[in-house]
Amino acid sequence: MSRFWSPVVHNLSPYVPGEQPRQDGIIKLNTNENPYPPSPHAVAAIMTATGRLRLYPDPRASALRETIAAHYGVASDEVFVGNGSDEVLAHTFQALLKQDAPLLFPDITYSFYPVYCRLYGIAFEEVPLDAAMRLALSDYRRPCSAIILPNPNAPTGIALRRAEIESLVAEHPDQLVVIDEAYVDFGAESAVPLVARHDNLLVIQTLSKSRALAGLRVGFAIGQRSLIEALERVKDSFNSYPLDCLAISGAVAAIKDDAWFENTRDRIMASRGRLVGALSELGFKVLPSQANFVFARHPGHLGAELAAGLRERGVLVRHFQKPRIEDFLRITVGTDEQCERLIAQMRELV
Ligand SMILES: Cc1ncc(COP(=O)(O)O)c(C=O)c1O
Repeated sequence: MSRFWSPVVHNLSPYVPGEQPRQDGIIKLNTNENPYPPSPHAVAAIMTATGRLRLYPDPRASALRETIAAHYGVASDEVFVGNGSDEVLAHTFQALLKQDAPLLFPDITYSFYPVYCRLYGIAFEEVPLDAAMRLALSDYRRPCSAIILPNPNAPTGIALRRAEIESLVAEHPDQLVVIDEAYVDFGAESAVPLVARHDNLLVIQTLSKSRALAGLRVGFAIGQRSLIEALERVKDSFNSYPLDCLAISGAVAAIKDDAWFENTRDRIMASRGRLVGALSELGFKVLPSQANFVFARHPGHLGAELAAGLRERGVLVRHFQKPRIEDFLRITVGTDEQCERLIAQMRELV
């Protein structure tokens, strides 16, 4: 607290990211990182790009936007790129979601959304998920300026079908619908093919999860030109170079390496099935996940107690001290070996 603070700073409650421990040997299943390394082509491209560090990067990141556009079958001016999808989301909140009526999002969802609302002074309403932690589209039939949802939702991992997203978008022709697809590659259906038909849809993705590049910080949005232009106006009023030359080169190579992407994604999805089976055998109730994490609770144990017990045993998972979900653990799908070590420790706790 200081008398020099701008008034807005007093009212902020910043997002708290998952712990990044410094010591080795920890089984880290708390921040939904990919347990496999990124594409070797991406790493080689980053090494090559170090030769260009003297120069400013391309402020428009054209090579990356063209690569993403070709991959998803859209035009490059329908693509916006930023420093992780968190930055793309932040610009979206400021450029498109600050309106008179409230913004809607689920009560259990990515906890950065209310943080951005407070930062930018955006009115919002949280729409409760049902008792099974599912999102009911009918609950969104109420006055609003816009809607934002992750699909699959985080931290539940439950996904809506593309047809359901299209109904939501069609039911709200005068409201923007933003779909945050951070985890979509692990088995859900992307809404990107709907963008051509709907001027009120913006889809946001990241290279942090399925492309194993959380440390490079690359995210992107796909939407019709007028939406992308709003994001560009905010970005160019904030930072001309959110992506450095290493990030642009690495991301281009990662997107092009379909074989690496498919192989590592398939391994994670197979491990997820085995992890769900092992947790269920221990008595956990596991929500049906289409993400690279599972959300699970044990009827006989408190979530905080299990998270603390695992931590003492060198396994980090994410626990949210939040009403409705305080007894759940969000567990990232690691390698089979990591998952087996988690299960071995859990067996001693339940
Ligand atoms: C739902 C959701 N959206 C966006 C992000 C941000 O990812 P990044 O900024 O690494 O692209 C996360 C990160 O965990 C997430 O869970």
